[in-house]
Amino acid sequence: MPEEELSFLRVARADELADGGTKLVWIGRRPIVIARAGRDLYALHGLCSHQGNPLEGGAVWKGTLECPWHHFQYNLATGENVYPKRVYPLDAQPHLRRQVRSLRTYSVRERDGYIEVGVRTVARTRGHRGQSSREEGGQGGGRPLT
Ligand code: FES
Repeated sequence: MPEEELSFLRVARADELADGGTKLVWIGRRPIVIARAGRDLYALHGLCSHQGNPLEGGAVWKGTLECPWHHFQYNLATGENVYPKRVYPLDAQPHLRRQVRSLRTYSVRERDGYIEVGVRTVARTRGHRGQSSREEGGQGGGRPLT
């Protein structure tokens, strides 16, 4: 079984994302929203759990990202839904359970003027289709694992 490694891939120039800004990027077929809150960067699954709309353009405030469509809110660091999950009891609103799933989070960093998101890829090994891990997990439609 091939080993996995965390690879950081450039997804945007750092100056594209002002404080409070969000941007939807794609790594392969994976949508990821990156957000800046002050000096901190965050990366989460890019589609809202409510109706699957993109989270780009959402408000970044008080440690959360608010979906621009119907105002669901997610903790930027953990991806946990904080609204409506913390407001409406799920026992009384069972249809909400699926809609308030947490968003997956990703490692993200700023290097050399670019924002990079970490994804797991197949480690570079000889004889594995002769490709490097960057080729498999890169922005060119590779095969990130997670
Ligand atoms: S699609 Fe995000 S709150 Fe409805």
